[in-house]
Amino acid sequence: MTAKTRILTGITTTGTPHLGNYVGAIRPAVLASRNADVESFYFLADYHALVKCDDPARVQRSTLEIAASWLACGLDPEKVYFYRQSDIPEIPELTWLLTCVTAKGLLNRAHAYKAATDANRAEGEDADAGINAGLYMYPVLMAADILVFNANKVPVGRDQIQHIEMARDIGQRFNHIYGGDWFTLPEAMIEDNVATLPGLDGRKMSKSYNNTIPLFEPAKKLRGAIMGIVTNSLEPGQPKNPDDSNIFSIYQAFASADETAAMRKAFADGIGWGDAKQKLFERIDAEIGPMREKYDALIGKPGEIEEILHAGAHRARSLATPFVGRLRHAAGLRDLREKSVVADAATTKAEKPALQPVVFREAKAFAFKVLDAKKAVLAEQGGFADPKAAMAAANAAIEKIATA
Ligand code: TRP
Repeated sequence: MTAKTRILTGITTTGTPHLGNYVGAIRPAVLASRNADVESFYFLADYHALVKCDDPARVQRSTLEIAASWLACGLDPEKVYFYRQSDIPEIPELTWLLTCVTAKGLLNRAHAYKAATDANRAEGEDADAGINAGLYMYPVLMAADILVFNANKVPVGRDQIQHIEMARDIGQRFNHIYGGDWFTLPEAMIEDNVATLPGLDGRKMSKSYNNTIPLFEPAKKLRGAIMGIVTNSLEPGQPKNPDDSNIFSIYQAFASADETAAMRKAFADGIGWGDAKQKLFERIDAEIGPMREKYDALIGKPGEIEEILHAGAHRARSLATPFVGRLRHAAGLRDLREKSVVADAATTKAEKPALQPVVFREAKAFAFKVLDAKKAVLAEQGGFADPKAAMAAANAAIEKIATA
């Protein structure tokens, strides 16, 4: 039997799921999780939430809403690993092991951090003004999320590709330093054929544009939001172009091919915007309505969600605990009684010989030698006008040897 492909993704717990999240992430993930050839890991990235949100009530509420949404949309917590990041202490533990093999320069180049420092500079501020170290460390925490379960594929938006590349870099470095194939190197999985929904104003539906339609609000409110989507001023009876209509794009993301073709025809026949919006509402509600009932029931029973998340964390930790135990051991965080302490003393990386500069006078000038602990000459040069110059050159030579 070949190992199943592991698919893993995290959802930051700072907001309320909207229709764009449903179409772009939740629906395809729930579908993919039913594939027998994959092992899926979906988790609530609440440690990541703290980087950008210091409102405890919001983090808690969002965690509840996101968990309830994924479950209401059909995620089966018995078939997948569904857990909350902060229930897995191995994640912050691994974060530190990874932090110590991560080049600081790598983090300096992270897009999110660079964008923040660039914005500060543009304002004439100190580059790091108002930036917390969590933003800086974000990619390492994310690498730990992924590497702790040796995920093969990580479905993410394009804005996250660099983070996956960093997780590969960091994993590779750990593998190299501690000599082993400890980590599988993950790949980003970009779903180019899932729809990105336009929002109320026609731009991509996104929390940052404040143009979202919440996934699970009462049907009346959903209808109201849909009625507020911007359209052009064409009257009923005038033919309309489906291909530049937000109403049509959203409809298409929910409808079958036949329904879509019928709507296309209705546009050509001049359907009024009010009627088109009503049809859009009905189509979305047909899909979302039954899930909304489950959602409302779940939100009313937070204890049940807690239990589901704890069970998920328990299963996830049955993988993470022994694995991080081996990683700790690899890095030297070991039981002192272990035999390998003695055995390893001999194989501990040989200390670089202590290098010693020696300056001396020649016939007409000064010279230096660099000696190692056994007095072997590692470098030697003459022709210096004074002892100071010879000593400076000796130290430069030592520097060069030591960093070679
Ligand atoms: N950074 C991701 C986002 O903002 C969320 C996330 C945290 C994540 N940890 C992850 C995604 C691990 C994939 C894998 O969308």
